[in-house]
Amino acid sequence: MEHTQYKQNRPNLTPKQQDQITAAAQVLNAGGTVAFPTETVYGLGADVTNPDAINKIYKIKQRPIDHPLIVHIGDISDLHYWAEEIPDSAWKLANHFWPGPLTLILQRSRHIPDSVTGGQDTVGLRIPAHPVALALLAALGPEKALAAPSANRFGRISPTIAAHVREELGSAVDMILDGGACEVGLESTIISFHDQSPMILRPGGIAVSALESVLEDPVILAHNTSQMIRTSGSLPAHYAPATPLRIYSTEHIWDRALALAAQGLRVLVMTWSDIAPSQPSDQSIEQFSMPSDPIAYGQQLYAKLRQFDQAAFDYMIIEAPPDHPSWLAITDRLQRASYNPFDNKQN
Ligand code: TXA
Ligand code: MG
Repeated sequence: MEHTQYKQNRPNLTPKQQDQITAAAQVLNAGGTVAFPTETVYGLGADVTNPDAINKIYKIKQRPIDHPLIVHIGDISDLHYWAEEIPDSAWKLANHFWPGPLTLILQRSRHIPDSVTGGQDTVGLRIPAHPVALALLAALGPEKALAAPSANRFGRISPTIAAHVREELGSAVDMILDGGACEVGLESTIISFHDQSPMILRPGGIAVSALESVLEDPVILAHNTSQMIRTSGSLPAHYAPATPLRIYSTEHIWDRALALAAQGLRVLVMTWSDIAPSQPSDQSIEQFSMPSDPIAYGQQLYAKLRQFDQAAFDYMIIEAPPDHPSWLAITDRLQRASYNPFDNKQN
């Protein structure tokens, strides 16, 4: 199955990395913040049991206080400690997909402070599949876990390499652990179990089909915002570059690019198919080909959006992804990125 790739081919940690992890655990145990790699995106971590440390995360990210944080745990045997009334289907998914890019929303136990959940009685939990994250969790000691949202300012693109964390957060974070490029590149799939029935709040690193084959049941996708309102990644504007971003079908994308170029605008066109321009190339259009495979596309997406965002284009024009479940998480992120609060260039 797809997810097993995240558990394989991981190098052992070097002695230098081990030392950094020991130092990072000390920072966290003293109430500081540490950015760390996971298989999905980099997280901005703090000791879940320390409300002052948790408040630092909200401050650094400029995140509204009622948007709950995901809690990262090191071992499935800890699940009982952090959550209660765990449905059978949640156990099934945890056993199958952890460590991996799947977050389970469960009834929180008394060990989870209010500050982590924004006062909600549920908590998002996952075991990340990255050797640095797992070593850090092990170094923290028993009855500790890492509350960690993605290590970007609220609403912006999640970081997938350590240098992006530095760009986003700079010296606001006490320490950044470098674990290379994130293997998945998109955030975890979030699933809730209201009335026992599993519902996807955010599509992500684990495909819907993989969840369904483990549960042997269909899984509902939350569409309406009242179900998703407490999931900040589900606000219409999120994961957003500052450059206006538009999504057009394969059929229309070149016409749109040429129309914008004709107005004297510099346009970046990002495609996944091998469509060629139907008219001679225009100097103010730059075209970039992304992989046509959703896994590889997802790995690169945020880094490319970040790179092109810094390249002073007037527009980023993205070819609409294929209408296939394997592209769901990518389509979701692109749609949110295209709702841009900084975008005043209507077109
Ligand atoms: O892949 C990931 O999930 C990354 C890495 C660092 O683990 N984390 C991440 O965290 O994406 P963040 O905070 O950027 O997004 C977490 C999402 C938010 O939209 C939050 O509202 C939602 O999870 N969430 C957390 N706890 C929740 C809860 N109890 N009920 C509903 N949504 C919850
Ligand atoms: Mg985020």
